[in-house]
This record gives sequence, structure tokens and C-alpha cells, in this order.
Amino acid sequence: MMTDISALKAGLIADIDAADTPDAVEALRVGALGKNGVITGLLKTLGPMSPQERLEQGPPIQDLRESVTAAIAARKAALESAALDARLASEKIDMTLPADPAPQGSVHPVAQVMDELAEIFADLGFSVATGPEIEDDWHNFTALNIPETHPARAMHDTFYFPDAEGQKRMLLRTHTSPVQIRTMMTTPPPIRIIAPGRVYRSDSDATHTPMFHQIEGLVIDKGITLGHLKWTLETFLKAFFEREDIVLRLRPSYFPFTEPSVEVDVGYTLANGQRVIGGDGDAPDGGWLEVLGSGMVNRRVIESCGLNPDEWQGFAFGTGVDRLAMLKYGMNDLRAFFDGDLRWLKHYGFSALDVPTLSGGVGA
Ligand code: PHE
Repeated sequence: MMTDISALKAGLIADIDAADTPDAVEALRVGALGKNGVITGLLKTLGPMSPQERLEQGPPIQDLRESVTAAIAARKAALESAALDARLASEKIDMTLPADPAPQGSVHPVAQVMDELAEIFADLGFSVATGPEIEDDWHNFTALNIPETHPARAMHDTFYFPDAEGQKRMLLRTHTSPVQIRTMMTTPPPIRIIAPGRVYRSDSDATHTPMFHQIEGLVIDKGITLGHLKWTLETFLKAFFEREDIVLRLRPSYFPFTEPSVEVDVGYTLANGQRVIGGDGDAPDGGWLEVLGSGMVNRRVIESCGLNPDEWQGFAFGTGVDRLAMLKYGMNDLRAFFDGDLRWLKHYGFSALDVPTLSGGVGA
């Protein structure tokens, strides 16, 4: 019996060590330790034995079971590691290959520029204010000291809604200036806001679209002067165009809601025949581009908002966001901004992941 068991053990272990696939090892395990396996059969013979017999015959059978179990585990592990070595040797991943690009949207230049502007003005202590695009005549014109006879009020310039009996005259706002009024009427000064958004005018050619984007700025405080306006615009334009050599030219102008009013030009110079913002516009290869309308808030506007103009003064400015985007990023047809052509967006759009702006970092 003893010799039978040691012969059985030697034979099983030899078979296990010779097995060359995990399936072959498994077949041997079932043959030895499975429900009808040889070792299982031997273990079953222990049950009916007398305690004395069991004491003699039990240990070699248990030893057989343990040795075979251990041999199977060892062989399985050896085969698995050999299989892994073989795979490692045959498979390779080229980490230098580019990843498959997943389709990715892009940030529209207008959204990009609006984010850049919000960031620049946030650094100067301005917060962002908004107002409705469907405005009433009072906020868009009357409170801004725009008289009934002003050409901007004409039907051919402004999109009006049909007049309804007993209702205010409604229109698509023609500029972001009504946000000045809404802010002054709801926020106690001091005020420092910018108001970016869509505006609408009855206009369409290569440099005008019926809808475009403006950004308004408004500061109301005590003792505000034209000097503050000039410094703010200069600081903003330097940050926006990322150049220190921005030269401004302030020209007297007229807006009903500012007095005095100034139009602001920025100097450009030619580089390889291209206009580049920066440098003295009066230089031989230079010129001036109008970028902003601005001025000191008219006291009549401050009064319409219920504030005392002897106590509170301020400045306001407005500029076209689309135009700023065209100047900074070298696009020349405004209409392409709103055509929704994916090829154009791919070319001029910004990656939400690459560009460290609000739209990239925080989600617009
Ligand atoms: N609202 C003016 C426009 O649309 C711009 C402007 C804003 C001018 C604020 C002066 C002050 O042309």
C-alpha cells in the first residue's frame, strides 16, 4: 500500500511537471482531486477504517493530497508566467504613435475674446453685468438721452417689435449701453462693470452683420475723470493685444449719453505688408484704427437713473467684440463668424483644453 502511494505520487507529479498547457494541468487535477479522482477515492477509504488503521494509512494519503495540490499550483504558476513572458516578448506598444483623435469641438473666437476681456477687466476690479436682448425703447434710447429725432431710432436702423396696444415699445437692443441704465438703477455706486453681449442692427455687408457682439464698460464713482478712462482703456488694450507699445489717439466725438465723448483709435504699423496693432500710428508705415466709443457719462443719464450727478461721475465705453477678434486674430470677413462653417471654426477656433482662459479652464 505504502509503495503504491509513493509510486502514485511520483507518477502524478511527473505528469504534472510534464503538462505543457493550463488545460492539461486542469485535466490532471480533475483526475486526481476531482469528485471521482484517484486521491479523492483514497481519501474516501479512510472513513470506514478503524481508528488504528486510519492512524497508519491516513498520513501518507494526506501527504499525497498535499504534494499533488502543491505541484499543480506550482505548475499552473510556471505556465502562466511563461505565457506572460511570451506575450511580453511578442507584443509591443509604440508609445510614440499619436493617439486616435476623438472628435473635439472648439471655442468660437467670439467666446474666446469675451473670456479674454472678462479676465482682463476682472483684474481691474470689474464684474460682468448682463441685460435683455429684447429691450424697451426707454432703456435702449430715452434713458440714454437719445432724442426721438435721433437717426439711430429710425426703423431702417433698429429692429422693432410690432406695437401692441398699451404696451411699451419693444425692440432688439442696438447696443449694450442699456445695461448701463439697468445697472445704475439696481446697484448702488460705486459701480465697475463690463457688459458683453449680442446687439442687433439692420445692416449687412462684409464688415456689418445684423447681429454682432459688443462689450460695454461703466464706472460710476466719486471724482472720476477722463484720465481714469484713458488709463483704463490703455491698460485694457495693452493686455488684450499683448503689447506694451500700444498708442492711443483720443478724438472728440459725440454720443448723446456721454459728455464729453471720445472716439479711441489705436495705432498700427505694417509688418510684411500686414497691419499689426501696436506702434505709433503717425509713423511713416503706420495708421490708426478706430476701436472704441467712450466718454464721461452724461449727467442727464446719471439723473435718469435716480443718482445725483453732482455726487457721482463716471465714464463708459463700448466696443465691438467681433471687431476686436478680427484685429487680434487676423480674420477679415465678419460674416464668416456666424456662418457656422465647421472648416472655418476648425481653423480659427480655440481648443478648450489648450487655452488657459475661463472657457478653457472653468467651462463657459
Ligand atoms: N453705444 C455706443 C455704440 O454702440 C458705444 C458707446 C458706449 C459710446 C459707451 C460711448 C459710451 O456705438
